[in-house]
Amino acid sequence: MRLAGKVAVITGGASGIGRATVLKFVREGAKVVVADLNLEQAEAVVAEVEALGFAGAASASKVDVSEFAQVEATVAHAVEVFGRLDVIFNNAGIAGGKALLDHDPAVDYAPMIRIDQDGVYYGILAAGRQFRDQGTGGVIISTSSIYGEQAAELAFSYSAAKAAVISFTRSAAYELAEYGVRAVAITPGRVATPIIGQFSAELQALFASEQLRGRMTAPEEIADVVAFLASDEANVINGTVVHVDDGYSA
Ligand code: NAI
Repeated sequence: MRLAGKVAVITGGASGIGRATVLKFVREGAKVVVADLNLEQAEAVVAEVEALGFAGAASASKVDVSEFAQVEATVAHAVEVFGRLDVIFNNAGIAGGKALLDHDPAVDYAPMIRIDQDGVYYGILAAGRQFRDQGTGGVIISTSSIYGEQAAELAFSYSAAKAAVISFTRSAAYELAEYGVRAVAITPGRVATPIIGQFSAELQALFASEQLRGRMTAPEEIADVVAFLASDEANVINGTVVHVDDGYSA
């Protein structure tokens, strides 16, 4: 029960890495707001939590992370339902992209930046203010990607947004240290979630082969690391990137 008594907001909590992290966090004793654009699916994850025997440990909140007021409302939801906030996992995101010279900026750049980049900034800002006002400190974990540190085909906008997540993490750790807040970014490699399902079977096989042991990562494996990073056991991991890519970047 590494997270006993902690309250967390997990964005993108309705699916993939976020859903696995919700389930891990409640098992570790946390109360969790399952924050997602897809409210119906977020409510289904809350039902899963209940079915596991953790009645009242999770609450769904509809949020579009690209709208600051909605992110603020989700943080307020955590405080209203569970009384405080200790952890935010800025994890909601979209993937995909086109070759640069085929871009329509309004379609292939702006939405990616609004969700994958601005959404993390808003989470850091809203949670940071709550941590300051509570006077308790807090932990900010944000999902970057291997593509936040290297270029790749069809990932021009995605790479930019995910690189910003790493920069935000370093700056947040720097700026919020005086309030006892720590910030960490994670860089998943190839994780078997619906976001990967949009790619062809051939491409998915290629993705798996790119990790050193030739296998995709399960979302639960990422969730295990996030739970550790959120816990006091990771108290000295701050302002940095934790690679969770099974050797992809070795
Ligand atoms: P997923 O598609 O299973 O989950 C993403 C969730 O984010 C969905 O529930 C979706 O409804 C939600 N979402 C999308 N736009 C939103 C918005 N504007 N506001 C609120 N929620 C929104 O995908 P997965 O794989 O679990 O992705 C989670 C994070 O991990 C993303 O940031 C993704 O970029 C990142 N990532 C995933 C990798 C992978 O191989 N699956 C690799 C590297 C990074």
